Amino acid sequence: MKVALTGTPGVGKTCASSLVGTIEVVSVHELAEKCHAVVGFDEERDTVEVDIDTLADAVSRIEGDVMLEGHLSHLLGVEQAIVLRCSPTVLRQRLAAKGWSDAKVRENVEAEAIDVILIEAIEAVTRVCEIDTSSMRVEDVARAIEEILSGESEKYPVGHVDWSQEVFDWF
Ligand SMILES: Nc1ncnc2c1ncn2[C@@H]1O[C@H](COP(=O)(O)OP(=O)(O)OP(=O)(O)O)[C@@H](O)[C@H]1O
Ligand SMILES: [Mg+2]
Repeated sequence: MKVALTGTPGVGKTCASSLVGTIEVVSVHELAEKCHAVVGFDEERDTVEVDIDTLADAVSRIEGDVMLEGHLSHLLGVEQAIVLRCSPTVLRQRLAAKGWSDAKVRENVEAEAIDVILIEAIEAVTRVCEIDTSSMRVEDVARAIEEILSGESEKYPVGHVDWSQEVFDWF
């Protein structure tokens, strides 16, 4: 089975997946480089441009169980998506600590606040779960992912994460 570990940049996909031991993990970023799906660089948004069709084609040729880790992974023909979530306030701190520009931090915090990746995942994938990582240690996020992979997805249903109160508090 192919599973996507997705979420807004900075929510902790790479950190958590590095501690998941029950499935092979493939970095979508590395796969994109390997299969020549990186087609440009968006200077304004300070991010690489990726050809989704080339990437999906490479994913379709992967055999066996695999978890694809990256913020595009839910768009690559997977059977299940795990969406990592992070409170916008906490995410702002994590992204700023990475040294990202104010504009890039803001773009991603806003995307998290309005559930952009979650909605994309629900539109593209039949089985979707979400984990609120805001106050979880990386090890605990990895254990939660392993729980979902072992069939306990009902503990992490879509809809249990809601940033609307936090967003209202901004005004
Ligand atoms: N559960 C956590 N608690 C606290 N800090 C975390 C947690 N997970 C990740 N971080 C920190 O947040 C930052 C982003 O983590 P990471 O690189 O894993 O995110 P990502 O989702 O893979 O982002 P990208 O989509 O940009 O690759 C890192 O500096 C990491 O140390
Ligand atoms: Mg990453």
